[in-house]
Amino acid sequence: MKRIGLLTSGGDCQALNAAMRGVVKGLSSNLPANELEVYGFFNGYKGLIYGDYRMLTSKDFSGILTKGGTILGSSRQPFKLMRVPDEKGLDKVEAMKHNYYKLGLDCLVILGGNGTQKTANLLREEGLNIIHLPKTIDNDIWGTDMTFGFQSAVNIATDAIDCIHTTASSHNRVFIVEVMGHKVGWLTLYAGIAGGADIILIPEIPYDIDKVIEAIDRRTKAGKGFTILAVAEGAISKQNAKLSKKELKEKMDKNPHPSVSYEIAAAIQKKTGVEVRVTVPGHTQRGGSPCPYDRVLTTRLGAAASKLILNNEYGYMVGIVNGKTKKIPLADVAGKLKMVSPDDQVVKEAKMIGISFGD
Ligand code: F6P
Repeated sequence: MKRIGLLTSGGDCQALNAAMRGVVKGLSSNLPANELEVYGFFNGYKGLIYGDYRMLTSKDFSGILTKGGTILGSSRQPFKLMRVPDEKGLDKVEAMKHNYYKLGLDCLVILGGNGTQKTANLLREEGLNIIHLPKTIDNDIWGTDMTFGFQSAVNIATDAIDCIHTTASSHNRVFIVEVMGHKVGWLTLYAGIAGGADIILIPEIPYDIDKVIEAIDRRTKAGKGFTILAVAEGAISKQNAKLSKKELKEKMDKNPHPSVSYEIAAAIQKKTGVEVRVTVPGHTQRGGSPCPYDRVLTTRLGAAASKLILNNEYGYMVGIVNGKTKKIPLADVAGKLKMVSPDDQVVKEAKMIGISFGD
């Protein structure tokens, strides 16, 4: 008999349902009939804290491989507030443990990104059996080559840049496509390269606006009428990168621009007189059906997770390393971000073909 809990936490992404389906199918295909009970907690950790759950049946997992979003709902419950009692004085960690033990769970399968993973590790330290599956369009989870959601989001952001390309080539304009990613630039880097962006600005490589303008000028002088920039939400100027967190916050509070892309657009327009347009695909990047890559990845991660559960092996994230699914101790990865290094081969190769990073 196996009794497992499932929850999806943090910003949603494509293939959350596909991953849960993989886990449940892996278990149900290898356990005798009626030897599996699955409880779904609603809206991430909220459901576990407040006991908002439902028993799920095989029917719930049928036909969801291609369905975006999450059948369980999700919410952001910041890790730093987990030890802080709620407004009614409830101890959230104790409440989560209580609901876990009340249902007699063998294990909790938690799907989420970095913040989610930190709380998953906290629950592990508190003695619960945990398996974590790495979801995020940001691909910034340490210990796995790929997170699910990333490839689907790359497809969407690339489509956005592709669409801009056709209109850009009809006008002598500069176009900025703002790609998701506040802390890391993997999505911008990959979509930027795939979409043929001329300039890619990411948080890990602070930009100099004069270098950005030089890159635009170079194209103009070469007779190219338009330039496309892929800019991460968290792109930062060299000047701002030198500020302390507090100084930066104060500066940003006074910033009239809705996002960094609009600030860059205004600076380019002011210095060059060239027309600049900004496109923000925003949350479309997290929406829609998972791409085939993510469907395969999550089916594999789900199957590997089910194998661990059948073997009573807990306390792991299941990732993919060099094409193979791998169990990685949660304690080794929780709290670590996988960032783009300016020395990454992919950055160097992009620079090799003339893509500017504004540095
Ligand atoms: O972490 C995933 C992500 O989509 C980031 O790329 C983005 O910066 C952030 O979430 C947006 O968060 P929210 O959905 O809370 O606006």
